Formats: sequence, structure tokens, C-alpha cells
Amino acid sequence: MTNSIVSNTPDIPHRALLKWVEKMTKMCNPDRVHWCDGSETEAEGLFKEMVESGACIKLNESKRPNSYLFRSDPRDVARVESRTYICSLNRDDAGPTNNWEEPRTMRRKLKALFNGCMKGRTMYVIPFSMGPVGGPISKVGIQVTDSPYAVVNMRIMARVGRAVLDTLGTNEFFVPCLHSVGCPLEPGQKDVPWPCNPENTHIVHFPEERTIVSFGSGYGGNALLGKKCFALRIASTIARDEGWLAEHMLILGVKEQGKPKHYVAAAFPSACGKTNFAMLIPPKAVNDIEISCVGDDIAWIKPGDDGKLRAINPEAGFFGVAPGTSMKTNPNALLSCRKNTIFTNVALTDDGDVWWEGMSKTPPNHLIDWQGRDWTPDSGTPAAHPNSRFTAPAKNCPVIDENFESPEGVEVKAVIFGGRRATDIPLVYQAFNWGHGVYLGATMSSQRTAAAEGKQGELRRDPMAMLPFCGYNMGDYFRHWIKLQRGLAESPRVFHVNWFREDAEGKMLWPGFGDNVRPLRWIIQRATGQASARETPIGWVPRYEDIDWRGLDYGEARFEALMHLDRDRLRKLTLEYEDLFMDLMERLPKEIIFERELLISRL
Ligand code: OXD
Ligand code: MN
Repeated sequence: MTNSIVSNTPDIPHRALLKWVEKMTKMCNPDRVHWCDGSETEAEGLFKEMVESGACIKLNESKRPNSYLFRSDPRDVARVESRTYICSLNRDDAGPTNNWEEPRTMRRKLKALFNGCMKGRTMYVIPFSMGPVGGPISKVGIQVTDSPYAVVNMRIMARVGRAVLDTLGTNEFFVPCLHSVGCPLEPGQKDVPWPCNPENTHIVHFPEERTIVSFGSGYGGNALLGKKCFALRIASTIARDEGWLAEHMLILGVKEQGKPKHYVAAAFPSACGKTNFAMLIPPKAVNDIEISCVGDDIAWIKPGDDGKLRAINPEAGFFGVAPGTSMKTNPNALLSCRKNTIFTNVALTDDGDVWWEGMSKTPPNHLIDWQGRDWTPDSGTPAAHPNSRFTAPAKNCPVIDENFESPEGVEVKAVIFGGRRATDIPLVYQAFNWGHGVYLGATMSSQRTAAAEGKQGELRRDPMAMLPFCGYNMGDYFRHWIKLQRGLAESPRVFHVNWFREDAEGKMLWPGFGDNVRPLRWIIQRATGQASARETPIGWVPRYEDIDWRGLDYGEARFEALMHLDRDRLRKLTLEYEDLFMDLMERLPKEIIFERELLISRL
């Protein structure tokens, strides 16, 4: 049946994979099936088709070589957590922080949605590897999608192509990832630039079966299924079962002159400057320290045979938030997008380049905004959507780490948790031990950003920045973190940071960006037993003299304000955490309760 519409079924011995693709083809009923080889030629062909259909614009070749601009449907601009489901057999295994539905009921619903949903379109089959192809920590997924936008993005964000299929042999494990924009085309019906089906959007995970099904959205994590769906939600479940961690963390290397390089992994909620931190450039006066980037969003962390934790970045590119990125805030991110990049929902300049809020101090006099409308500085609306993105190959990054492609990963010396907190939380502090560190991660909160739905600025609980990404019960997740340390010969030191504290007038107390290298240096020194610190009820903190102040005029009084601890307020905040803990009570490990009791008594 399907053979006549399949142009290029590869010659592979993996029967289960071929069978699954055939089943998907029958159900979705596309006009054509194309197996992606991940090649340059293939991408060129897809971009050409999309330019011709009006789905994207080719940017000025001399300013932004081989780069394209897409504008999404205004109803499809971010991850939709309210439509994201974890369909485990048992409701409690998904836990109270995830949407749940009984798997059979959900399957029935999805079957109806997917029935004939690719009519008039091409179904692309994307074999992809999260992590270097064939690496010991890497895993394979096969995404079936009717979105050529997803194909060209996946090609940047993951390793795609025949080599991936070859690692599968006759029966190796892969994660089936089914995706459709949910807009079948009747014969003769003209397509829209950004097909999507917001009324019926469903992003569904079946953790026991290790499968992903996504319908109705073409945007970001809803459609690039290797990222949040696989590398976090499904991988966190696999990691729980196999004794490792799949985390919403950047990984960076710190090399001080004359000293060995050390790596840290850091978790921040979405759109809190993870990409900025992952590739920061230290100020000139502190240039005896170099930062290199292994990853900006996700870390797969595994205990090695030596009992140390090693991490890989499973991704191959950056899907970064564009607004706010400039040559001042993050030159390395901007340089990563100088070529071979896909832009989504940013503004178009009159000379065929891109612009977004914060890219330059003075906006251009005229732009086409993210919805394709004329825009001037007087328009009163943002030219780029607040969650507009660039998809850039990691190898474009000027400070990509030498071990970025290392299949075994890098040793993690320190784990950092952070959030966006205007009040109460000091710049940096260190947990007393691993258990206390897990408590710090578990009690992370952050002000909401545009990366997902919800009211911006509102304080949101986001344990380990995994609230929208943990594929199972958060209580079990905390327990898994606590248990993991028991098998380690050496566990990383744990820290908490906050770049966003404000003074009474609402002005930022800390300059952030490149200056974040100062607390980072203290973190590395603490993690390697070199720096001194002062004990406080919430953990170890640096004294003024423990921070490297070269080149920054930052007085002691200001530092006091930045580090100030208000015991009464902190006690109140600690007690307020009761709400999340009550929700998780049934599966909350007792260690978390102990840590909480200890903290309250110290305060
Ligand atoms: C992201 C997110 O896109 O966290 O990385 O939302
Ligand atoms: Mn993220």
C-alpha cells in the first residue's frame, strides 16, 4: 500500500521501526513519505519549497548566510503546559504536578485526531540521536512529522540521518515520536504559512511505553520532540529506572589560568538567562578565567565507573530566546546565529536581516514585525514576540567546549540552582551537603517568563526547573536525586544563585551577565576546596573578600544588601512551601521534610 507514496525507504533490518512507520502512514494518510537523511541538500530543498509556499523568508545572504525567518500563527507561540500530558498507567506515577489521563482513553482521543491528519501533506521520518551518534549516554528517537519546519529545526537541534539508523541494528531501542500540525489539506486547498490546530493541541507522553505523541502545534518544544518531550520528560523516566539524571540544565566549563578546567551544571527556569550564563564572557579585568559552553538547556548526567558524575548535552544546537540577546548581553549567542540559523517570530529589517527588542539600544526606524505588519518605534507593540527564538548550530558558538562532542561527557564538579527572584534570595550560597542541596533544588521558585503560558512576573514554584518537564511524580523525582548520591564516590557540591535581586526602588542590585563569573569563580573554588566562606542558616555564603572584585566598583554596603538575609521573611517563605509539599505528600521523601525542619530551626 504505502510503497507507492514512499520515495526512499532505507534499506534497514529494524523490522519494528519499519512496521511502526508503516502503521503511522496508514493512520495519518499522507500524500507522500520521505525518510530524512539530514543532508545539506535535503535542507536546501525543504527551505526552497517553504520559501516558495510563503512559509518562510530567506534572509539577506550577505548579512545572514543560509538563514531563514518563520512567522508562526499568533495562537501558536509557546509551549502549552495546559495541554501537556503524562499518561502513565497509574495516575500517582504522573503525580499532582502533571496533567494526566488514562492511557487508553488518551490513545482513543489521539487516534481520532490523527486519523487522516496528514492528508495532502508529506510525512517526514526523522531518525535522530540525542547525544553524539552511538555514544554510551546517547539515545535514539524517530520523529514522524508533517511539518517541514520541524524537520529543518530538528536537523540543527539533534544529530539526524542515516548514521543514526545504522546504530539501531535489527532491534535496538528507539523512542517513537509522532507529530502532526493537525491540518489536513483537501485536494486543491491552499496551505497557510503556519498550519496549526490550537483547539485540539495535545502534547502527550506515555512514559511506560517511552513514546511521544504531539498534535496541533508547530512551535518549539511542542514540535521539536527531541528537546523537552524526549530529552526531559521521557528521558527523566528512563533515567529514574536506570539510575541517572535527565535535567533542565546548562553545562559549562571554567578554566582558570594555570589550573585544571572544571565543569558545572546549572538549572534555571525557562527564559532566565541560561543561554547567557552558558556562554558568558568574563569582564576584561577577570580575563584570566575562560568559560566554555557544553550546553545551554539540557544535561544528561550519569554516574561513571569511577563513581563520579559525567554529563553530556544531548542537543546539537541552541533554541534560544531572542529578545534581550545583544553584543553586550551575549555576544557568543549572537555570533552563534550569524549563519545557518532559523529565526522564529523575530522582526525583519528593511535590508533583509533580523531584529528584536534589546538587540540594539535604538531600534531601526522601520521593521516588519513578527506578525508581518509594518512597525515603527511608535507602534507601541513589540516588534519581536517575547518568546521569539533562534535555532542555531552549537558548532557556530565561538566558545563551544572542546568536549562538546565527547560521547562520555564531562565530569560535573558543581550543581547550581537558580531562579528569577526580585526579593529575599541572595546572590549565591552553598548547600551544607547533598541532601540540603536537593532541598534547595526542590524549593526553587521563579518569576514567570514568556516561555510558557501564564501571567508574567508571578512567582511560580519550579523544583529544579523541572516542573513542566519531569515525566513522573515529583516526590519520586526528589527521592531519585537523594538516592543517586549513595552510589557515588564523590558528589558535586550544590549551590543556589539569584542574579535578579532588586533594591527598594526596584533597580537590579547585581549587574549580571559577564560579572556572573565572580560568584562562579567562588563556586568553583568552593567545589574544589579552595575558597573560604561564612556559615548562615541557609548555607555557606561568600564574605565580601571572598569574591574577585577586579575591575568592578562594587562597595561592601551594596554587597551586604545583595546578600542580606531577612530571617523572618525567609521563615515565612519556607513555611509557604507547604502548598507544594502538601500536594506531593504521599511520595515526598522524609529527607526533604527533615531538611525543612532543620532550616526552620536554624532560621
Ligand atoms: C526552552 C524552555 O525553550 O525552557 O528551553 O522553555
Ligand atoms: Mn529550557
